[in-house]
Amino acid sequence: MASLNDIRSTFLGYFERNGHKVVDSSPLVPRNDPTLMFANSGMVQFKNCFTGVEKRDYVRATTAQKCVRAGGKHNDLDNVGYTARHHTFFEMMGNFSFGDYFKEQAITHAWTLLTQDYGIPKDKLLVTVYHTDDEAANIWKKVAGLSDDRIIRIPTNDNFWQMGPTGPCGPCSEIFYDHGDHIWGGPPGSPEEDGDRFIEIWNIVFMQNEQFEDGSMRALDMQSIDTGMGLERIGALLQGKHDNYDTDLMRALIEASAHATSADPDGPGKVHHRVIADHLRSTSFLIADGVMPSNDGRGYVLRRILRRAARHAHMLGAKDPVMFKLVPALVREMGAAYPELGQAQALIEETLKLEETRFKVTLERGLKLLDDEVSGLAAGAALPGAAAFKLYDTYGFPLDLTQDALREKQMTVDTDGFDAAMAEQKAKARAAWSGSGEAADSTIWFDLADRVGVTEFLGYDTEEAEGQVVALVSGGAEIEQCSDSCQIITNQTPFYAESGGQVGDSGIIRTPTGTAQITDTKKVAGVFIHFATVTDGVISKGQPAKLELDHARRGAIRANHSATHLLHEALRHALGDHVAQKGSLNASDRLRFDFSHSKAMSAAEVAQVEAEVNAYIRQNTAVDTRIMTPDEARGLGAQALFGEKYGDEVRVVSMGEQTGSGKGGTGNVYSLELCGGTHVKRTGDIGAFVALGDSASSAGVRRFEALTGQAALDHLNAQNARLVDVAATLKAAPADVLDRVKALTDERKALANEVAQLRREVAMGGGASGGGAEAIEVNGIKLIAQSITGVTGKDLPPLVDELKAKIGSGAVLVVADTGGKAAVAAGVTADLTQRLSAVEMVRAAAGALGGKGGGGRPDMAQAGGADASKAEEAIAAVKTVIEGV
Ligand code: ALA
Repeated sequence: MASLNDIRSTFLGYFERNGHKVVDSSPLVPRNDPTLMFANSGMVQFKNCFTGVEKRDYVRATTAQKCVRAGGKHNDLDNVGYTARHHTFFEMMGNFSFGDYFKEQAITHAWTLLTQDYGIPKDKLLVTVYHTDDEAANIWKKVAGLSDDRIIRIPTNDNFWQMGPTGPCGPCSEIFYDHGDHIWGGPPGSPEEDGDRFIEIWNIVFMQNEQFEDGSMRALDMQSIDTGMGLERIGALLQGKHDNYDTDLMRALIEASAHATSADPDGPGKVHHRVIADHLRSTSFLIADGVMPSNDGRGYVLRRILRRAARHAHMLGAKDPVMFKLVPALVREMGAAYPELGQAQALIEETLKLEETRFKVTLERGLKLLDDEVSGLAAGAALPGAAAFKLYDTYGFPLDLTQDALREKQMTVDTDGFDAAMAEQKAKARAAWSGSGEAADSTIWFDLADRVGVTEFLGYDTEEAEGQVVALVSGGAEIEQCSDSCQIITNQTPFYAESGGQVGDSGIIRTPTGTAQITDTKKVAGVFIHFATVTDGVISKGQPAKLELDHARRGAIRANHSATHLLHEALRHALGDHVAQKGSLNASDRLRFDFSHSKAMSAAEVAQVEAEVNAYIRQNTAVDTRIMTPDEARGLGAQALFGEKYGDEVRVVSMGEQTGSGKGGTGNVYSLELCGGTHVKRTGDIGAFVALGDSASSAGVRRFEALTGQAALDHLNAQNARLVDVAATLKAAPADVLDRVKALTDERKALANEVAQLRREVAMGGGASGGGAEAIEVNGIKLIAQSITGVTGKDLPPLVDELKAKIGSGAVLVVADTGGKAAVAAGVTADLTQRLSAVEMVRAAAGALGGKGGGGRPDMAQAGGADASKAEEAIAAVKTVIEGV
């Protein structure tokens, strides 16, 4: 029996032999299409090849594409497990022609592969065509020899395929397999078509139109082919099964579920095993493609599927988490075709385990509440919306989980009541927020959050993406078009909105009619606000947009943010565990980190921190990101901001490996922080770290500033250039600059002394010290009193000392004219200080010079005065003092 893996290989091999390029499946999260939540058919990655916007170096391709249909236009979640053919995850095999072959060759290939390579008997097959498509009908007649009654014309949209509300589309032709008259059902188009006898196995779309948002459609310039065949369906058929879940691959997963839960795979819990097998595939593939559980967008779809699976595992009696235990079986079955599964196995297992463990805490209590509510209901009544909302809000039951649980009891939920309860809660949150003092016009963001939903952030994985302009705002009001300044809101964005110290991204948003420069990005109520200046054309609400952020700027911001985490840890090592983050700024040109520490860092501490951060940069280990509850994160030793309000779950960023015991219990993680920011992939991407040093920020808080990457190098280069300039000026080698500067400083000091000496000599009349000064005698005390110019106040004390030495015993008074103002100094030799104080002398002199006060010791005192022309009066006043002693 051919396995599903063989059947996939046969398909790809057939088309490869026929000139098709085998192209890898694209990720489940479409990079090029904002209107789609997940890739839901093989053509998604080729969308722009059909419209002619994109050219590749091949015109024929074949793929096996991972698809998820859960949320969005195609949503099969509700039926999974209960029917033979619904899946949230499936593989769509397809062949594609981009303006190369068209109807005839597509039909010929399909018929050949089915009847020859897969060996399906011709008389089991029949086809449909769009009712006006005579051409396709005739080709089927010619190529397959099908009689008219086996070529059924369908007038409805069933035979006109569209991937979503916009994009390439066209009439299609579907191939059906007849399982035989022992199964109930009629051919397509008949009243019994919903029966299980005739099953569609392949859809061939003749791509020839493009659908637009406003409902209009154009004919494409070229005619192309897009086909899709579900591997699970064709697999069931070729393995002689009626039910997709009986194929080898799905059966292996069901048996893994049975083994993990010790519950019979075909017993009363059969449905549960089927749901688990299906949900294992969608959740694992989503995680492998970068989706993490969250409360909105794609992450919430993942969470819903996973919680649903957790309930089914619970119904099988599982006490512990189950899903993560099944991942090895999935990797065994599908890892060869999809290597990303094996690569992400550890992440998938950890995420599934954490998510299921957390949900189990409320699952049982929620189910008990549900039972209580249901038992109080009259027969046939729906579960009140308020009860479903309580299950959602308090116990984390997604609405579809509650509906799924009630389905087993043939009951439904009052969804209008649920929506009303949800709206009421949002209104309360808004009232609380607008009462918090923020700008009144900000309520517009809450209105938008309600109406268009919160913005999905794609910027952890990508720096450019497509989005749809869902609103334009100017002056606090919504507008339809913008050709100057406004705020642009898109359904999803790679732009990071300012938070957690990291600045918002800047970049460009382009729509088919306009270009806007984005200078900043902020967020309110989950709505990302791009601050835009339209530089070209006009941007309109509803348009598709290409969003591309400034890569170099983001790169620098990222490096600074990751370096801040390393810095935080290095500071704790250097200064102690009291170091706690008090604030931070991660801009493109620098980083700033405020932390609790009561004194300035020494140069040695700064150097130690700088060296440690650089050592972890050079270690170049991968930066790892996980989602967990705040308590779990703290349990691992994560650094969290004290007093900060964290939601149900946090992102935990870890980096660096330290020897000895590290954070995280098991590993030796160096830095572990709760953080929603964007980070480098490996620490080496930071490049380099240069400390600018620390300064006071506020009481008990220091601010450390540093540079990374190119900015760090630029800084060092600038320093070096200055050194080279200084060396050139000194005519010294850079290595000798310090010695030269020391020598110059000493020389300068000696010269300054010499100059002061000379100035004093000149002031005192030249020649030997005090050459011009004559002593007089007042009241038996020798006094030299002199008025001089050309000196400063600083020169006076040494001059007084010299005069004191010259006089031997007596008093000295010098009054200097320092440019209109006066400086005065007095001295008394030691033998006379009992009688006469220099302080009294300068006070008397200062009084005469229009000054006040003066101070010093009895043997030496100084004062100043406003008017140097009163020098004679000052000398007279001092004489009077001496006369009085
Ligand atoms: N894109 C087509 C489908 O999904 C083939 O059915």
